[in-house]
Amino acid sequence: MTPEELAHAGLDLAVDGVVATITLNRPEVRNAQVPRMWAGIARILRELGDDVRVVVVRGAGGTFSAGLDLSLLDPAKPEEDGNFIATLGLPDQAIIDQIGIYQEPFALLASPRFITIAVVEGHAIGAGFQLALSCDLRIVADDARFCMKEPALGLVPDLVGTKPLVEAVGYARALEICASARIVSGAEAGEIGIAQVVAPASELDGALAAMVDAVTAHAHGAVTATKQLLQDAPSRSLDDQRLAERTAQVGRFRALAGG
Ligand code: CAA
Repeated sequence: MTPEELAHAGLDLAVDGVVATITLNRPEVRNAQVPRMWAGIARILRELGDDVRVVVVRGAGGTFSAGLDLSLLDPAKPEEDGNFIATLGLPDQAIIDQIGIYQEPFALLASPRFITIAVVEGHAIGAGFQLALSCDLRIVADDARFCMKEPALGLVPDLVGTKPLVEAVGYARALEICASARIVSGAEAGEIGIAQVVAPASELDGALAAMVDAVTAHAHGAVTATKQLLQDAPSRSLDDQRLAERTAQVGRFRALAGG
């Protein structure tokens, strides 16, 4: 994407060796998310070179994201990307298809091609929480504030966040967090399995550097194949998973032998 296209999407992109950093860059509205931002993230992820091994997602201005830009829910506040209320004249299937497009960048963050890391400080609300959950790993400031706000607005979380939340904390805790729409602190996120690293905000960059070093230390192909195995494990029988493991291993043997 050109610098102009990135600016229009409210994004910043930096690629440094094997690490691509996508920054939500609308700090004046706490990195509130709009459809052109989602389209931009999807395009960035699709266009990244095969040599990129880690994708970092973070927010500008000391906060991750205040979630959906609320202008999209208010017909009185025209937003460039339109208004969700205005789409209600469409058939259900057209709206379902449109949300499917909005979900694409969140789903693409699970691609086995790279390991995705959310660096969260400040707020991660609604779509912000879901964006962080869509990454493989989360490095979180101890005073960060997560909130699955959608039920408090009469909505459901629909940007790919429900599955990783249940997988991270279990059904009962996920229900309690979503139904109450309460704040989960960064410290609690670490305790219940949402965050893999919790640190003071001033130490997040150091924690990120250490994480990047750790997950890029070994053969790219082995890490990619292992991520795929781990992702698929919950939906497979033990026998099917065993088959997937030995099939992947043959691929690794051949790669190591150079064939
Ligand atoms: N959409 C649009 N603008 C937003 C915004 C949002 N989600 N969040 C903040 N802003 C704007 C504010 O209107 C304010 O603009 P002005 O300077 O023009 O007044 C500016 O950003 C700064 O906001 P605050 O002064 O409120 O900043 P703060 O640091 O004191 O508080 C906050 C930060 C706690 C995130 C607070 O702004 C807030 O609660 N925002 C709304 C969060 C929200 O309800 N998001 C929707 C979640 S649901 C979702 O995401 C839907 C979905 O997926 C279906």
